[in-house]
Amino acid sequence: MTLPAGFSRRDLFMKIGIFLNGIVAVILGVPIVRYLLSPVAHERKGSYDSWVPLGSLEQFPPGQTRLATYRDPVVSPTDGETADIACWVRNVDGQTFQVFAINCAHLGCPVRWFPQSNLFLCPCHGGAYYQDGSRASGPPERGLFEYHYKIDGRKLLIKAGEMPTPGQASSIVREISPCA
Ligand code: FES
Repeated sequence: MTLPAGFSRRDLFMKIGIFLNGIVAVILGVPIVRYLLSPVAHERKGSYDSWVPLGSLEQFPPGQTRLATYRDPVVSPTDGETADIACWVRNVDGQTFQVFAINCAHLGCPVRWFPQSNLFLCPCHGGAYYQDGSRASGPPERGLFEYHYKIDGRKLLIKAGEMPTPGQASSIVREISPCA
């Protein structure tokens, strides 16, 4: 192959190298830029605000607390079962509900409901909560976090796009004060 005058093999390989590096930079850069921009992307914003169905009202009999799961609305298809999130649903009187995050307000271990004692108990450090989610004893400094809920027809829905955490106070229904 003959090269144009004044154009060496070194120049040729340099240009090919720059071209290939450009392709690699685009391949690596596009996902990174998409990730960085994802919090302001429209479709994710909509998901944060969406209402997620927990099931029909018949699944939560009056006076009882039942485990329910929902699909995290802010997921990608590759998240698999990690996007299935559990929560506790308390049907207070047939009309009023409380939906608690399953995570302990201390360090986030999943709490379990014990109807025999009417308590939520945390297996990690012995935190305990009353049936209304308020703190009963142990290391947690507050009660369980609650989701906003609404009833649509015969279905119970929660606003679950943002996980309730101490830093996301807007996503909880109310702060439950610790007991004296
Ligand atoms: S994580 Fe529940 S008491 Fe510590």
